[in-house]
Amino acid sequence: MKKLHRKLLEKEVYGDSRRAGVVLLVIFVLAVLAVVSLLVALSYYCYIRSRVSKRSRDQKMKDEKVGSASVKSGTEKGIQVYTYKQLYSATNGFSSGNIIGHGGFGSVYRGVLPDGRRIAVKLMDRSGKQGEEEFTMEVELLSRLRSPYLLGLLGHCSDNEHKLLVYEYMANGSLQELLYLDNGSNGGASKLEWETRLRIALDAAKGLEYLHEHVNPPIIHRDFKSSNILLDKNFHAKVSDFGLAKLGSEKAGGHVSTRVLGTQGYVAPEYALTGHLTTKSDVYSYGVVLLELLTGRVPVDMKRPPGECVLVSWALPRLTDREKVIEIMDPALEGQYSMKDAIQVAAIAAMCVQAEGDYRPLMADVVQSLLPLVKHLRSSSKVTSCPTYPPTGEHVNVG
Ligand SMILES: Nc1ncnc2c1ncn2[C@@H]1O[C@H](COP(=O)(O)OP(=O)(O)OP(=O)(O)O)[C@@H](O)[C@H]1O
Ligand SMILES: [Mg+2]
Repeated sequence: MKKLHRKLLEKEVYGDSRRAGVVLLVIFVLAVLAVVSLLVALSYYCYIRSRVSKRSRDQKMKDEKVGSASVKSGTEKGIQVYTYKQLYSATNGFSSGNIIGHGGFGSVYRGVLPDGRRIAVKLMDRSGKQGEEEFTMEVELLSRLRSPYLLGLLGHCSDNEHKLLVYEYMANGSLQELLYLDNGSNGGASKLEWETRLRIALDAAKGLEYLHEHVNPPIIHRDFKSSNILLDKNFHAKVSDFGLAKLGSEKAGGHVSTRVLGTQGYVAPEYALTGHLTTKSDVYSYGVVLLELLTGRVPVDMKRPPGECVLVSWALPRLTDREKVIEIMDPALEGQYSMKDAIQVAAIAAMCVQAEGDYRPLMADVVQSLLPLVKHLRSSSKVTSCPTYPPTGEHVNVG
């Protein structure tokens, strides 16, 4: 009996320890399995991660390629780089017969490209101090500005010796030429009608509005004047030479050049006195151009009787007096305008040429004031077609 009991006891003990061994084995196997699956999961995770990051790296590289390609093609599309030889042959060797004007930067030549496009080439003769790279950068910046009211810069040429700008050709030349048939002295009656003058005023205002309000940071023209308003074959006006002041050397032979001070008769008093330049300086110059359109007189004419030489000083007291507005109107316009319209344009001009810059309107205000006047013009006007450009509401970042 005792023997049997011992055997039973031994069996129990052995059975327990065998069961414990099995349990331990199971636990061990499970642990090994867990570690193995953990390792598998970890390596799978690493594999997936490396694939994802490779894909995003590839995508990024692809994006960069696309980005640089679009910038490149945009630049190429926006501005053409011409060789001096190409422009030389386009302008018939820069022949004197092809000269269409002279300005502060040099001579302007008419030319024709091999594809038949007519161009105007400005041969810059004062840019010696400016580096080639800086010139190219500045020109490319200006070429990014697109508006139907700004003269399109088609391309440029820049090597050590020559710096040239290539523009679209404006068949009707500058407003200055059209207004003053005998070079600005009194007597030459302009054939520019009232309606055309109003439309030109609006187009030019829109050009300045674009520079001031649709470009970031704003561009101050610095030299807004009637010779920098050019007219295409339909008499649509475009503002030219914006931002070019920066391209000229600031000093010419040690003297401060007229480029810095703008052009006589157009310069806002605060800029002339302090050199402080704001968009309101352009508004003043715009007011002077508006006065030229109203009166047919140049901004400064020393041949006129005392008190009438400086256009702003002569016109200002008459602009705000409804009875006297008639006195300043260009005799060539007789019978073409209503007194109501003339008084309104005179009031806009008066606000623009105020001595205090802060009291001058924004160009957007000027545009809004001129719009209804132009809208109500007779539909029989010569100006009918509409240029095709990207919308002007687009904002452009230039720096
Ligand atoms: N794109 C163009 N199409 C047709 N004529 C042009 C063009 N650009 C300039 N011109 C003519 O050349 C003349 C001289 O232009 P330019 O810009 O060199 O001098 P400016 O306007 O008189 O003075 P500034 O150099 O101070 O601007 C203009 O008055 C105009 O008659
Ligand atoms: Mg000019």
